[in-house]
Amino acid sequence: MCVLTDKRPETMERITTPELAEKFIAEQVEAIRAQVGDKKVLLALSGGVDSSVVAALLIKAIGKQLICVHVNHGLMRKGESEQVIEVFGKELDANLIYIDATDRFLDLLAGVSEPEKKRKIIGGEFIKVFDEESAKLEGISFLAQGTIYPDILESDGVKAHHNVGGLPEDMQMELVEPVRLLYKDEVRVVGEALGLPWGMVYRQPFPGPGLGVRCLGAITRDRLHALREADAILREEFEQAGLVGKVWQYFIAVPDTKSVGVKDGKRYEGWPAIIRAVNTTDAMSATIEELPYPLLHRITDRITHEVEGINRVLYDLTPKPIGTIEWE
Ligand code: XMP
Repeated sequence: MCVLTDKRPETMERITTPELAEKFIAEQVEAIRAQVGDKKVLLALSGGVDSSVVAALLIKAIGKQLICVHVNHGLMRKGESEQVIEVFGKELDANLIYIDATDRFLDLLAGVSEPEKKRKIIGGEFIKVFDEESAKLEGISFLAQGTIYPDILESDGVKAHHNVGGLPEDMQMELVEPVRLLYKDEVRVVGEALGLPWGMVYRQPFPGPGLGVRCLGAITRDRLHALREADAILREEFEQAGLVGKVWQYFIAVPDTKSVGVKDGKRYEGWPAIIRAVNTTDAMSATIEELPYPLLHRITDRITHEVEGINRVLYDLTPKPIGTIEWE
């Protein structure tokens, strides 16, 4: 059950082509079937690259013996939970349990402004919801996880840093971790070979606590809504401009502060939307993408006109260091 001693063999070929991905998939399907037999497997499916690829692999290997649980903590980006339902619930016909826990999370977070406290609440509540849900299920013997090789290299073999994916330690289940020896780029090649949508496989990194780290200070529903809408516009415009897959990470943060503006001849107080668009290889340091001015103007125009509550758009030019990528 323990993966701590897992080491990628020196001889293991890097998966770079569809052919190599197919070979890996065939091997893993065999290995999963041998490990699991006719027992049931539980998976927390966030919709991120790693858990999605693990879900698709397991569906191929054991079909309905896999039970996916998707917890919507209310801090997902626009359309994300819907995509999980569409792809896994409908297209892949998976055994998917969808839990909309938005109210639980947002009620607990109300009035909490300290970043670490917010993270703890989100992580803790996630475990609680997942625990409650798995307690309702019977005969689950295995827990699948989207652990990848850098997780093993960087931590203790579980997604400890991914504090929303971190699951209860006392869960007495054997682990199934089919992509634990793969690097991220390999997971993506495998995901494509499994037929997952491009947008899911090449998704930019998204923190476990989701928009919770980008809705700065105490989260309110109206500001969270504004953030989600502004972020969706930014992503749409990046897509239109052909920047998806070229810029490593891009998003909006909305601070808990207002300034005076003017709209339709009247005073209009609103929050600023801050654009972050960075490039990096390891997230330890990051540079700023040189976005074209016409694109920045267009994004500003759309966000200030289309998003209720936003009256300014700013572009954060701070590299990491000294600024972190997220604002928190
Ligand atoms: P910072 O803000 O520290 O972020 O420069 C570095 C990278 O880590 C991502 N990030 C997270 N990823 N769970 C994750 O899986 C998290 O809790 C988390 N917090 C930050 C961040 O988006 C950036 O890519």
